[in-house]
Amino acid sequence: MNDAPIGVYDSGLGGLTVWREVRRMLPSESLVYLGDGKNCPYGSRPREEVRRLADEAVASLVAQGCKMVVVACNTATAAAIDFLREKYAPMPIVGMEPAVKPACLNTRSGVVGVLATERSLDGELFRRTAAKYGSGVELITAPGRGFVELVESDRESTPEAEQAVRDAVAVMLEHGADQIVLGCTHYPFLLPVLERVVAGRGVEIVDPSPAVARRVVQLLDQYGLHAAPDHVPSYTFRTFAGESYRLRLEHKAAESL
Ligand code: DGL
Repeated sequence: MNDAPIGVYDSGLGGLTVWREVRRMLPSESLVYLGDGKNCPYGSRPREEVRRLADEAVASLVAQGCKMVVVACNTATAAAIDFLREKYAPMPIVGMEPAVKPACLNTRSGVVGVLATERSLDGELFRRTAAKYGSGVELITAPGRGFVELVESDRESTPEAEQAVRDAVAVMLEHGADQIVLGCTHYPFLLPVLERVVAGRGVEIVDPSPAVARRVVQLLDQYGLHAAPDHVPSYTFRTFAGESYRLRLEHKAAESL
């Protein structure tokens, strides 16, 4: 038994889509959410810079006494997960997997779309996953241009957001994609718009966050790190961007439940 908190980290608000799944699945666990905020978006920054930012973030969660860290950011996972696991061993670190595998298993049309940031799509992690599970399937990738900025500025239900989503999925829909993978943790906040855009096209949208939360459960089992069942959890929010951003995180988290 271990009542220390689990750290959940993202460049900004996006990781809250993972935070809420972990919270739902593990109601006795305390969570410290760290949304960088100061350096968001990460998506088009050089890999080395994202690695340095992820290192600083994980170091600060370790300093908060976290027993495990979830890197709830595909971009930071792609840039830094091996480095972080090595540096902070034996602490378990969970990263984001692009959910290409379930999408490729479930497609009937043989066409799968993947939306993610530029940095995630050109990374080794995505290349490896695509090569492993995507054979015989047409994988169509597109960066969600402007998506992160729309979510960060609370504009995810605007006509502008709808246009950005339409542009991003146009080629996928033309080619008959019946699965669209959300490869960035900010993107599930655009789900209502995305569902409207693909309505009637028989498309399933794949959000990997429940699978990531299940992985957290597995690792708590494996390392014997579960909190006591009667532990009263605390939920704290941290940022590198100042108090008003910290309050936004708190507010968005409450809204997302
Ligand atoms: N939410 C992040 C991801 O999953 C990062 C987006 C960004 O900062 O560009 O990739």
